[in-house]
Amino acid sequence: MKVIITKDYEELSEKAFEIMAGVLKKKPDAVLGLATGSTPVGLYKKMIEDCKNGGISYKAVKTANLDEYVGLTPDNDQSYRYFMRHNLFDHIDIDLENTNIENGVASDLQKECERYNALLRTLPRDVQVLGIGANGHIAFNEPGTPFDSETHVVDLTENTIKMNARFFENEKDVPRRALTMGPKNIMEAKKILILAVGANKADAVKGMLNGPVDPALPASILQRHPDCTLIADEAAAAYVK
Ligand code: PGA
Repeated sequence: MKVIITKDYEELSEKAFEIMAGVLKKKPDAVLGLATGSTPVGLYKKMIEDCKNGGISYKAVKTANLDEYVGLTPDNDQSYRYFMRHNLFDHIDIDLENTNIENGVASDLQKECERYNALLRTLPRDVQVLGIGANGHIAFNEPGTPFDSETHVVDLTENTIKMNARFFENEKDVPRRALTMGPKNIMEAKKILILAVGANKADAVKGMLNGPVDPALPASILQRHPDCTLIADEAAAAYVK
């Protein structure tokens, strides 16, 4: 895995944008695998700024997001569909028809997972953006998720519910389940860009880079990816040699 350590979040977002721009310049109709959470917001801001200034166009781009909460409608401001519109899609020239995310209010969640897996097979991702959880999760693949899983329904761990409570008025409002791409779908991307910010990610980053490849730390699977770049700020990279 290639490792880039940056002095702060601004520089991390800049480096991530350079890699993203590199993919899009080579392939204007690229398929982007996108993530939610606080970490990629700086990257999305750079994409917006560049597009508004006449840079890269997203007219031919397609996207597939990693995950979505179960039970939140797309207009709920805590849904990941809403997050993506608010933080990226509504501010660039992308066709919303070309953006994809699991439907967290599907009446049959199992069928919805099958639909998404079939869709992903038709949308090979040129680059996949990822964050990492303090427990080493990627997307909502919590410790113990088999590496060969595809999109599935997950029960969120207490740890993840607590971490995500900061986005909600009340911890009890955090959904208890989500739909998430599995490690197998994630590993299919041609290129992976994983971003880590802050001291609370330092242990997970260390385990991902140096620990055994083990479902106990889902991000460790990325050691097996032929083109994966970690960009971490100094705090998240505290234990990186
Ligand atoms: P964060 O979440 O970007 O909000 O830190 C990352 C994750 O839990 O995957």
